Amino acid sequence: MKFLVEPGGLLSGSIRVPGDKSMSHRTVMLGALAEGTTVATGFLEGQDALCTVQAFRDMGVTIRGPERGKIEIEGVGMHGLKAPANVLDMGNSGTSIRLLSGLLAAQTFDSTMTGDVSLQKRPMGRVTTPLAKMGAVIESDEGRPPLHIRGNKALQGIHYEMPVASAQVKSCVLLAGLYAEGRTSVTEPAPTRDHTERMLRGFGYDVHCENAVISVQGGGALKATSLDIPADISSAAFFLVAASIAEGSDLTLEHVGMNPTRSGVITILTLMGADIEVLNEREVGGEPVADLRVRSAPLTGIDIPEDLVPLAIDEFPVLFIAAACASGKTTLSGAEELRVKESDRIASMAEGLTTLGIENEVTPDGIVISGGVMSGGEVNTFHDHRIAMSFSVAALRATGTIQVNDCDHVATSFPGFAALAAGTGLRISEVG
Ligand code: S3P
Repeated sequence: MKFLVEPGGLLSGSIRVPGDKSMSHRTVMLGALAEGTTVATGFLEGQDALCTVQAFRDMGVTIRGPERGKIEIEGVGMHGLKAPANVLDMGNSGTSIRLLSGLLAAQTFDSTMTGDVSLQKRPMGRVTTPLAKMGAVIESDEGRPPLHIRGNKALQGIHYEMPVASAQVKSCVLLAGLYAEGRTSVTEPAPTRDHTERMLRGFGYDVHCENAVISVQGGGALKATSLDIPADISSAAFFLVAASIAEGSDLTLEHVGMNPTRSGVITILTLMGADIEVLNEREVGGEPVADLRVRSAPLTGIDIPEDLVPLAIDEFPVLFIAAACASGKTTLSGAEELRVKESDRIASMAEGLTTLGIENEVTPDGIVISGGVMSGGEVNTFHDHRIAMSFSVAALRATGTIQVNDCDHVATSFPGFAALAAGTGLRISEVG
């Protein structure tokens, strides 16, 4: 499936983008291990979250839905999972395979996880290394999936100094720590999304955080809860940029998760001159939420502060489109992690920007983008959902039609993207 996006247009109205992907995964994982039935609304019905749902069904957990965002998970308790009959297929989802590694390493049964072509290329040593220190036995294909996890290994609590700022690694180690003997702690080189910590507390599990050290004591229990999952700021980001770059736009995004470990995109766009108003700030189920009103504004290139990189890690593809529409140069550094996402996002974006006539210079850990006039053209997505959506919104400022190839993966994080975007004014259509 391709997107054809005609140039020009502006965005208006009020929309709610789908639920937070990180929180949706964790809802299933913690809900499955809790005592009692967890009910959540706002659940993301995207392929990635559905892979996590299927994995727990394969391990004997009864899950009703998701239907119109509502999901009910009948928890089986910390020791109630059953051996899956087959290989667990995590599709495109790095969060599923990495977080589940921590949980599966602590079970009494053996298990194997694999995924699609993209996932099979992604590094897993970052989770198997700390898990091995805890006593887990995991075989991989030279650090890539499939992962064969041996059961019946008693895990020991460790202290782990994380070499990369990764919420997936942090979460994996903490989840294994729930089963480990003693205390398990991690130190983050920079703050990363803290949904695991917040949600563990929401499920009644004590998590200690002090000076970048986060720890749990093994052997506790989780209690079922109810959750209202906010709209995913990473999905909202496409519209924040779209409305900023398309002159005359005035768009409101409702009920967006505003966790400070996720809102770097707003800080970066504001530094570039974007007009984003944060309205009705409130707290929902332990997470800050707000409505965001965004009006078009002239953007200026900036040097992106490196400390914002982990706080906007998934939003760089669309921020590169903002940079292409800004006056002057935007420089990103300290972002080598982008090279090991669903695609090498520095290389994928650089290729498409060059196709559209935007000057850019790739560096090992970032990119320098010179704002300019964008032409139409045919761009490759490398089967990466965020690359596809980023080049779709670029058409608002292009001089010709943009054809975005291979857009099937958009459904991993943002089912219904094209229809929702078209409803706000993007001239997008799906083709065969
Ligand atoms: C996620 C963490 C991030 C992010 C991913 C979701 C999570 O990955 O890119 O989309 O839910 O924990 P890293 O932890 O590898 O940076």
